[in-house]
Amino acid sequence: MLVVLALALGVAGCGGQQTKDTKDSKQTSAQAGGGQQPAGKQKILVASDTTYAPFEFQDPNTGKYVGFDMELIQAIAEVNNWDYEIRSMNFDGIVPALQSASVDLAISAITITEKRKEQVNFSLPYYQSGQCVAVKASNNTIKGFDDLAGKKIGVQIATTGADEARKIPGAKITDYNTINEAFMALKNSNVDAVVNDYPVTFYFIQQGNKDVKIVGDLRTSEFYGIAVPKSKPDILEKVNSALKTLKENGKYAEIYKKWFDKEPPDFLPGE
Ligand code: ARG
Repeated sequence: MLVVLALALGVAGCGGQQTKDTKDSKQTSAQAGGGQQPAGKQKILVASDTTYAPFEFQDPNTGKYVGFDMELIQAIAEVNNWDYEIRSMNFDGIVPALQSASVDLAISAITITEKRKEQVNFSLPYYQSGQCVAVKASNNTIKGFDDLAGKKIGVQIATTGADEARKIPGAKITDYNTINEAFMALKNSNVDAVVNDYPVTFYFIQQGNKDVKIVGDLRTSEFYGIAVPKSKPDILEKVNSALKTLKENGKYAEIYKKWFDKEPPDFLPGE
């Protein structure tokens, strides 16, 4: 059984002191709580689709980008003495942004896949995930992946969930720009099911969406990595050495526990 099956996510506080970022698609490390920005710090542009709680999302009260990935990149930036800025973009724009090196790295619950490895470099894996099926709580016919043949399935565009859904015989797939749009389509019965990363669907339901439920076993074992342009090996090196530091000094485990309410598996982050 996948490790992730045993996940019991905790709702952690996602407060922050900063004021709302009116430029809305950007957040600097100072705003994220990274403190002052003395001259001479290396400036790092970070791409993320900040609509994927609990990994990256906007705190509705402060407008600040929060979540597991957001705290992890803040900690990585602190280790490396980086001054960073979050560039929020659609998920399907992230790999192209990395390929053109218009950003320095991306953290966005990105699964390390063979296909993406041809396009970008990945850090050490930092989270284990898998795909799950969500249906309306009132649905008693779909009990897992095996019941999805011929059904209407909502996914987020360009994700591993979209890839997995496309393997289902006869399924009619609708790609949404964000997973929340796919969830809304499910709630409105425009699709029969949503295929998506388990921790994100679990968190969505936990946030009061009790008209949705997860059914059946997970499919796939996936690892998230921080993605870096192939032309920036120095950045990749610094991301990996920072991940090792954060594992050693307990900071990674602290962030993990805050967002998932349990200890991380001891092989993460790691080879
Ligand atoms: N892990 C999946 C993938 O890499 C979904 C990631 C979606 N991330 C996001 N921030 N919307 O394809």
